[in-house]
Amino acid sequence: MMFSEKVVFITGGTKGLGKAMAKAFLDEGAKVAVNGRNKEAVAKFEDEFRGKNILAFEADISDYEKMNHIADKVYSEWSKIDILINNAGIVNQLMPAEKIKKEDFDRVIDVNLKGTFYTTQIFGKKMIEQKSGRIISIASQVGFFGEKGFLPYSISKSALMIMTRSIAHEWSKYNVTACAVAPGFIKGGMNEGLIKKEVFVNFLSKRTPIERMGEVNELISLILFLASDNARYINGETITIDGGMTGYNQESLLDFIMKGK
Ligand SMILES: NC(=O)c1ccc[n+]([C@@H]2O[C@H](COP(=O)([O-])OP(=O)(O)OC[C@H]3O[C@@H](n4cnc5c(N)ncnc54)[C@H](OP(=O)(O)O)[C@@H]3O)[C@@H](O)[C@H]2O)c1
Repeated sequence: MMFSEKVVFITGGTKGLGKAMAKAFLDEGAKVAVNGRNKEAVAKFEDEFRGKNILAFEADISDYEKMNHIADKVYSEWSKIDILINNAGIVNQLMPAEKIKKEDFDRVIDVNLKGTFYTTQIFGKKMIEQKSGRIISIASQVGFFGEKGFLPYSISKSALMIMTRSIAHEWSKYNVTACAVAPGFIKGGMNEGLIKKEVFVNFLSKRTPIERMGEVNELISLILFLASDNARYINGETITIDGGMTGYNQESLLDFIMKGK
């Protein structure tokens, strides 16, 4: 078992990709705590993993007091926190930049950026005290190239990459390291609805050199690797997992020139 006796906290671990991560860490022997805003999803998580080493909390990551309280509870239960996965995140309503509503922009920044940093700080302080810890944040490939319509989401995910660098620079001396992953379009989580429509799957597949969307287990393998001691020297880095989509143009200048001949 890769994570026997390790304590993992996964934000937004009650659903989607976070829940798949929770299951994978449990299968590898870890004790896993999660949170989410939706009460029913928290109860469902507890039901599904009853009898395993789990803790589940109803809490918004942008609620500093509540997250602080939760961190204390995890400590009083398991006495440490080895790995924090900053997974909770929301996407904005797809919209041209000039039409984005203030509430939508603020909502995405409050959760994805502020909430993630507050959570990192809360758990990070405990990791600094215990002189060990690993922080993995889920960014997004759009944080690199700024996909049209995703402006607040792209900014928030780009900021997580810089946060990861800063944390690595500041906390490595306490043996607390950080890295991030930047997934492309994965067949799960927030894309559950979208993947039911073949037209979207085909569209996204064509935009990817590898010509398909990512599988959930492909992302999970990367997370487990980055959380393991084998990846300890990877610090401050954001790893893309997008089938090569970042920076890819379906039709390159070379293709265009060749077509013209
Ligand atoms: N799926 C993809 O293709 C993809 C690609 C790139 C990056 N990502 C990133 O991967 C992460 C997980 O996404 P997903 O696809 O699994 O999405 P999802 O199915 O919508 O899951 C998001 C999870 O985060 C929780 N959450 C949202 N806002 C929260 C808040 N303020 N406080 C606490 N929990 C909160 C949700 O639970 P509640 O609603 O109950 O709070 C849910 O458990 C996100 O950060 C997303 O940006 C996903």
